[in-house]
Order: sequence, then C-alpha cells, then structure tokens
Amino acid sequence: MPTMTTDRKTILRALKGEKTARVPWWLMRQAGRYLPEYRELRAQAGGFLNMVYNPALASEITLQPVRRYRMNGAILFSDILVIPQALGQALRFETGEGPVLDPVTPDTLTSLDGTAIDRTLGPVYDTVAMTAEKLCGEGFDDTALIGFAGAPWTIACYMAEGKGSRDFHAAKIWAVQQPDSFAALIGMITDATIHYLSRQIDAGAEAVQIFDSWAGVADADMFDRWIIAPTVAIVAALKEKYPAVPVIGFPRGAGEKARAYVQKTGVDAIGVDFATDPAWARDHLQGHACVQGNMDPAYLLAGGVEMERAARHVLTCLGDRAFVFNLGHGVIKETNPDSVARLGQIIREYR
Ligand code: CP3
Repeated sequence: MPTMTTDRKTILRALKGEKTARVPWWLMRQAGRYLPEYRELRAQAGGFLNMVYNPALASEITLQPVRRYRMNGAILFSDILVIPQALGQALRFETGEGPVLDPVTPDTLTSLDGTAIDRTLGPVYDTVAMTAEKLCGEGFDDTALIGFAGAPWTIACYMAEGKGSRDFHAAKIWAVQQPDSFAALIGMITDATIHYLSRQIDAGAEAVQIFDSWAGVADADMFDRWIIAPTVAIVAALKEKYPAVPVIGFPRGAGEKARAYVQKTGVDAIGVDFATDPAWARDHLQGHACVQGNMDPAYLLAGGVEMERAARHVLTCLGDRAFVFNLGHGVIKETNPDSVARLGQIIREYR
C-alpha cells in the first residue's frame, strides 16, 4: 500500500493509503431530505428523477451540503438505479414508496440493451462536469468529487425484485436455479458499470464508490461469484485506464467476508457499515486498504453528547492509519442539520 502520493486533496491522499494530518470526511446521503434547501428544490422539480437528469439542479444539490459543512467529499447527486433504466427497464420513484421497476426475469432478460446506455446517462456526465466546475469556482479546493455506481449484485437484486426487499429472494432464486442466465445479467451490468464509471471519471470525478448495499443477503458462495468476481473486473478495468483514481467499495452487511473482499477486489478503500465493530475493521481491514466509516447514522439523528461520544470512538479506533470518516449508512431524513455541523467540528478538532 503506497504511503505517499502527490495529491493535494486530503481525501484522495487518505483513500490511497496515507495517514493524513486531518481526518477527511463526507456522509452517505449528505445531499437529501434532511436539508430544507433540498426539499425546496425537490418540490419545484416535481420528482426525484427530474432532479437526477437535470444537470443544473443535480449539481446544485451536490453542492448544497458542501456549502454548509465543507465536507472533503462531494458525492454526485444521482442514484444507483439509473443503470437499470439505461438498460431499458422502466423505473419510477414514488413518494414514500421508494424505487419501483418492472421486474426482469430470465425470460425478459433479452429485452435489455447494453449498447446505448449513454442516451439515458448523458445528463449524469454533464452533472459531473458542471459540479467539478462549481467546486473549483467556489474555492472548494480540499473537496473531491466522488462519482458512484451500484455494484452488479445490488443492481441485479433490484432488477429482479422490482423494488426494495429484506432478502431479495427473486434474485437469489434466479442465481441458484439459472446461474448461466444470471451470469449474463451480472455481465451486462458489469460492462455497463465499467463504461458508466469511466465516463464519470472522464467528466471530472476524482474518486468513485461502488455501492453494494445488499452484499449482506448473499451467502458465501454467492459472495465469491456475484460480488467479489464482478468487483474484481470493475476495479481492474478502471485501474488499467485510471491508475491514479481511488476506488472505494462498500459491501454493506458483508461481515467477516469484508476481509476477502478487501484482499481480492483491489479496491483502494473499503466502506464499513455500522454493524461492524470499528476495532475489528482496524485489525482486519485497515492493513489492506483505507477504511471509510462507520458511525451509526442513529447517533447523528440523536445528536448531542451521545453523537459526540460515538464520533470520537470511531475516530479513536480508526484514526491512526488511512481513514475517511463517514457514516455506516446514509443520513436519516429526520436528522437535524445542526448535528451535521457539530459532527464536522468534532472531526476537524480530532488530532
Ligand atoms: O448524498 C448522496 O448520497 C448522493 C446521492 C445518492 C442517492 N442515492 C440519492 C437519493 C446516492 C449515492 C444513492 C445511492 C443509492 N440509491 C443506493 C446505495 C446506497 C444505500 O442507500 O444503500 C441505493 C440502494 C439506492 C436506491 C434508492 N434510492 C432507494 C432504495 C431509495 C428510496 C429509499 C430512500 O432512501 O429514500 C432511493 C431514493 C433516493 N436516492 C433519495 C435520494 C436523495 C430520496 C429521494 C427523495 O425522496 O427525495
């Protein structure tokens, strides 16, 4: 693991394995419903996807939390489910209901088309370029733009199920009973993801995160075949073209399998969920990659001294080596924006 690089931005140095003088931070779902300025734009836009595919709006939303709190990472405002949509699967977001897709089955798989995804995704690349320009223009010289995509497993889970689920049995049954056809689905998503992340990097993303939000529903065999293997392919393809751009993997719920993930996939950094003990992450993961995480967002929701104690515990466990402070999952929408400001202060005061 390299210990010194020439990157100026703190977070990029940390992601590449350097212990930085200040602990860099950003939060999953830092742009979203807990911010009144987000809710206002959302009401004007008339729907979530109208914001995602509008570069002027999406770049504004990306910047909103950064203007308030000066995080070291600006996460692109988009969604992981734009990939199924770009492959030809109908997608809608209904208020209070979350995403809904027309489920794909082994029989309808051939109706998807991976050859023209940029017809849908073009505005996302424009958002990246516009956001990079704004970050620079507004003087955020220690904030890096982070692009992202869903991991093939998590995307396949949503594509097969058509909506959120506790256990994603539709995808698992498909994987178990018709592994060749499931491999075709995973392969199609993997290729689309490599292309999509490459284009984000071309447009100005300085790091990328692969969200495997449903890694926790896979058993050990599925984890090897449908999580580790496609992630290896994505990381290898990106590293060949963009060796300097850090890749963060977030296999949520992987538990002890996070160890194999970090050793085999080639990611520069591993996002750790809040169910993982940060001391375990330090002992088993941090020797292999930068660790990013992992305060429970419930503490941010609670605020006050309980949050301060939880934040300091994570900092103390993980702050001695390459580390990016984050939550163990996304900001909860009822969170008080003032608590985020206080959290930023605690992180900046550490060391
Ligand atoms: O600040 C950010 O994190 C930036 C943008 C971002 C969104 N979604 C915006 C969003 C990112 C990185 C995502 C990733 C994403 N999307 C994931 C992986 C991370 C995770 O949460 O595990 C997943 C699983 C999705 C799919 C998705 N999008 C779901 C299940 C939902 C509904 C549940 C929810 O949290 O509302 C969404 C909607 C969504 N994506 C919202 C935002 C801001 C809320 C939309 C709204 O109602 O305004």
